[in-house]
Amino acid sequence: MKLLIPVLFIIIGISSFVSIGSTSKKDYAAITWKDTLMADREKYINMYKDSIRGKENRAADSVFKNIKVLKGKSAEQVLSIMNSWGHALGVTCKFCHDMNDFASEKPRHYLQTREMFDMTNQLNREILANLKTFRQPVVMGCISCHNEMKEPPHDGPKTQGNGARPRPRN
Ligand code: HEC
Ligand code: HEC
Repeated sequence: MKLLIPVLFIIIGISSFVSIGSTSKKDYAAITWKDTLMADREKYINMYKDSIRGKENRAADSVFKNIKVLKGKSAEQVLSIMNSWGHALGVTCKFCHDMNDFASEKPRHYLQTREMFDMTNQLNREILANLKTFRQPVVMGCISCHNEMKEPPHDGPKTQGNGARPRPRN
């Protein structure tokens, strides 16, 4: 009996430590992409999760119709990337997608995203990977520029006098 109490303490101690460790890991994934639009995005993610059940780990291009830049990812990873893009730009799925056909290339933001994805990879591989004065690897993602905005702030060209900055309309 004398021994039982300290042993129980140790067991409770270890198990609560383990559970704190695992929940904080889970929360981290939720927190990093949490914003006011998360619930709306989650609705569609869950809809897709149901439709790909059993195929989560298959190559994305064998599960979805129009995978180009995300070739090599699994179907499940694609959905998680979709959520991260939405979060990075502060938007829901419909900013980039025709909601009646997620494989459609008609929406301009869908195509722009492919270009942005290639640009970001190029930036990381060809420029940031070669920085010489940093002690740690410098890696940029969509969030680095967008910071939950559709359009990151620009440098020049400055305003046209009426306060408007000349740039292409979307
Ligand atoms: C910033 C733009 C953007 C946002 C936001 C976005 N997507 Fe995408 N999505 C894309 C692009 C671009 C592709 C094509 C990826 C490729 O070429 O590999 C894609 C592909 C997909 C596909 C594969 C469709 C197919 O059959 O080819 C699904 C499913 C998808 N997205 C779901 C979602 C969901 C659900 C959301 C919201 C949580 C979302 N997307 C948010 C840009 C976006
Ligand atoms: C190095 C900075 C940078 C990175 C990294 C970056 N973007 Fe962009 N993005 C921009 C700039 C600048 C614009 C132009 C905004 C404008 O037209 O006012 C832009 C525009 C866009 C647009 C068009 C938005 C609109 O309203 O017209 C989309 C969509 C987009 N980015 C998606 C992405 C995605 C997805 C990623 C990550 C794969 C990404 N961007 C990474 C800087 C960046």
